Amino acid sequence: MAQIGIDIDQAQVFLKSGQLVGIPTETVYGLAGNALDPEAVALIFETKNRPSFDPLILHTSALERVGDFVENFPEPLRELAEKFWPGPLTLLLPRKSIVPDLVTSGLDRVAVRVPNHPLTARLLTSLDFPLAAPSANPFGYISPTQALHVEAQLGDKIPYILDGGACQVGLESTIVGMEEGQVVIYRLGGLDISEIEKVVGKVKVKDHSSSNPAAPGQLDSHYAPRKPFILGNIETLIAQKKAEGVDFAVLSFSESFERIPRERQIVLSQSEDLHEAAQNLFAAMRKLDETDVEVILAELMPETGLGRAINDRLRRAAAK
Ligand code: TXA
Ligand code: MG
Repeated sequence: MAQIGIDIDQAQVFLKSGQLVGIPTETVYGLAGNALDPEAVALIFETKNRPSFDPLILHTSALERVGDFVENFPEPLRELAEKFWPGPLTLLLPRKSIVPDLVTSGLDRVAVRVPNHPLTARLLTSLDFPLAAPSANPFGYISPTQALHVEAQLGDKIPYILDGGACQVGLESTIVGMEEGQVVIYRLGGLDISEIEKVVGKVKVKDHSSSNPAAPGQLDSHYAPRKPFILGNIETLIAQKKAEGVDFAVLSFSESFERIPRERQIVLSQSEDLHEAAQNLFAAMRKLDETDVEVILAELMPETGLGRAINDRLRRAAAK
């Protein structure tokens, strides 16, 4: 079983010897390995059971180090990096050949991010290589936002999990790149689009319904609980499931339901705060997935701010 702790030196020893470590970030926990060591990178794919055509994000400690891995830094993307790093923003940049093919799945851009978490920042600063780190969940399942989530699913496959507490953002990073001079969002995430648009003006969003080979991880069914996950008007869904005699649990934005047992419902934010809802989302989905009901009923958030990214994850969870 993995050891869980806050020993950065210990994490460093494992990473230097080519092993993998669970690391906290502000978005979700990552499954980290030496990004410049093809064998460590291969071990990430194997451990996550992830198809090798789905590329990884390279994590580094500072903007100043990114030049080691990328050929150039298009101006609008540099402005975003200066404004939002460390933070929940991943940039697609032209890669240098030092980055192994396996990291980028052979694509000519590498995804780079400077995460904002004190433990991981210290770890990255102390290493002389960057870390490749996908979310630390088995491929297709809900991303982990606590060390115990990592332990539950990958604990028997990795030696160490750095415990940085519950993730403050709770949604994966927003992925941004350029196409024909225009800034494009490839994955909605923890950094709200309106924040990005304040810096670079109007952006294009390539959502998951468009065919999107540039971000192959944007598969429809992703972030999915094991139980059927049904989206709609909760009152209507409850009535339906009751009539069908099906046992259910409820995931709602702000409302609680009196006639439903407490352990079968989770409210994401009583005060309708989308940041709080994002923080709670994945842990709530996991918790309801572990109850003994047959289906999970859920509703969409308002389509504003982080609500768009939350709804993206909810729709994917429902797309089975
Ligand atoms: O917040 C996050 O981004 C977390 C934490 C751990 O940093 N990481 C994360 O990694 O969500 P992962 O592997 O679960 O998702 C990375 C996404 C995938 O959809 C992948 O297809 C896309 O980034 N991606 C990575 N490299 C890419 C590239 N070179 N071109 C296009 N898409 C890329
Ligand atoms: Mg993931």
